[in-house]
Amino acid sequence: MSKIYLVFPKKRGRIAPELYGHFSEHIGGVIYDGIWVGKESAIPNEKGFRKFIIDKMKRIAPPVLRWPGGCYAEVYDWRDGIGGERPTRVNWWTKADGRYESNEVGTHEFINFCNLIGAKPYFAVNVTTASALDGYRWMDYCMSPAGSTALALEREKNGSREPFTIPYWGVGNENWGGGGNMRPEYYTDLFRRYAAILNNFPVDFSLIAGGANEDDYNWTHKYCETVGGAENFLRMEKVKGYSFHYYTHITDHVLEYTRDDWYHTFRQGARIQEMIDRHWSIISGHGLEKEGRLVIDEWGIWHHANNCDPAEGGHLFEQQSTMREAVHAAMTLNIFNNSCEKIMMANIAQLVNNIHSLFLSLGENCIVTPTYHVFDMYKAHQGANLIETVCECGEEEGMKTLSVSASQKDGKVTVTIANLSYDTDEEVELVSLGAEAAEALTVTLLHGEDCRSHNTFEAPDAVTPERYTVKGNKITIPKASVVTVSAECRIENGK
Ligand code: AHR
Repeated sequence: MSKIYLVFPKKRGRIAPELYGHFSEHIGGVIYDGIWVGKESAIPNEKGFRKFIIDKMKRIAPPVLRWPGGCYAEVYDWRDGIGGERPTRVNWWTKADGRYESNEVGTHEFINFCNLIGAKPYFAVNVTTASALDGYRWMDYCMSPAGSTALALEREKNGSREPFTIPYWGVGNENWGGGGNMRPEYYTDLFRRYAAILNNFPVDFSLIAGGANEDDYNWTHKYCETVGGAENFLRMEKVKGYSFHYYTHITDHVLEYTRDDWYHTFRQGARIQEMIDRHWSIISGHGLEKEGRLVIDEWGIWHHANNCDPAEGGHLFEQQSTMREAVHAAMTLNIFNNSCEKIMMANIAQLVNNIHSLFLSLGENCIVTPTYHVFDMYKAHQGANLIETVCECGEEEGMKTLSVSASQKDGKVTVTIANLSYDTDEEVELVSLGAEAAEALTVTLLHGEDCRSHNTFEAPDAVTPERYTVKGNKITIPKASVVTVSAECRIENGK
């Protein structure tokens, strides 16, 4: 029997809701055919956005949505996406899938979507093919008070007298790669230039620096050395976050994989823990904890084989999403929770029809993936206080078989557990230290017939959570499954 100890007396941090963020780029089928169907569409919509997705998103309380890229951000001219005349442009991804950018969805439409689902917008500023003045003017257009500037008046003419609230602005995207192929020395100087201008915009928001590709710690060192001098930050109080991206790159077949492939996926996915710790240790080693909380603004499993083929009408990087993706998402979110002191935000890539998606759609069809259910099952962690957990469980193929995190909020404890085992169900005892054990546990279980189970347009609920109550403190966690346990909590000494 495995044991999970909940160590109530040990005070840990608050889990920022933004750890449960999302990402929607103008790529493949994310925006067009994904969230956007158009106001004239026969597909049920609100303000042109797919109603199915709006309703499902509201349920999982999305804290933040990143836009317009990704790589696309580095060729985006925000002026193309406002007003009545929208030019068709070559998208960053046109070479890959032949699709042009209609600009039907621009700033106003995207803000509408955020308002409809209740998410805060996170904009990425183009630093590769546009100037700092372009970024500054975009801020002016979006955030200047009603009637105050020429751009505020233009915004009003385009339908929004009141300014938009945009709390997060990213300075570039993947500038080590698609975003300009820059060296860290070059980017960090560029960042200083952009940040000095954008920081000066007279509204409150956070600036997020473009950071490393995965485990490129040299980039983080260079960033901290170049940007971190106190005299720079004295003038840049809005610099709050430092981003890095990590994808679990997989080459096996998305559905027909082996036991070895399964464990390889989780060993690869779990590497994100080391990246969080090492990037953070460099940042804190430079005394930049306040300016450099980590923003993992792209993460997920990326299958490099067996995606839909754009040449055959599929969406670029669209992939089916099975229980493997759900268990991986659950493990990753547990890692984020347990590292909450270091992380300001994280955004799974991407929302619809792309990489590790929560939704798959085609025309009038739209379904949720098992990963969507994980976000639903984990939502109680948002804004909760982390509880320290100690997990005594077995190991398989070099990995602990259970991944766990726990939190408390409003008198309730939430424990989320992923069973990473391909073959073995686990009996688990939950042990409360410093709190009275609950008499009954409410359990939500996400489990397929097998680890390849997934939803399709024909069987949209093949994988869907079940809920039940357990007396006592022991539960069974089937192999390749995700469980949320919730219970009332009474902490000893009334604390
Ligand atoms: O998410 C797809 C692409 O992956 C993004 O545009 C880019 O930032 C990353 O390489």
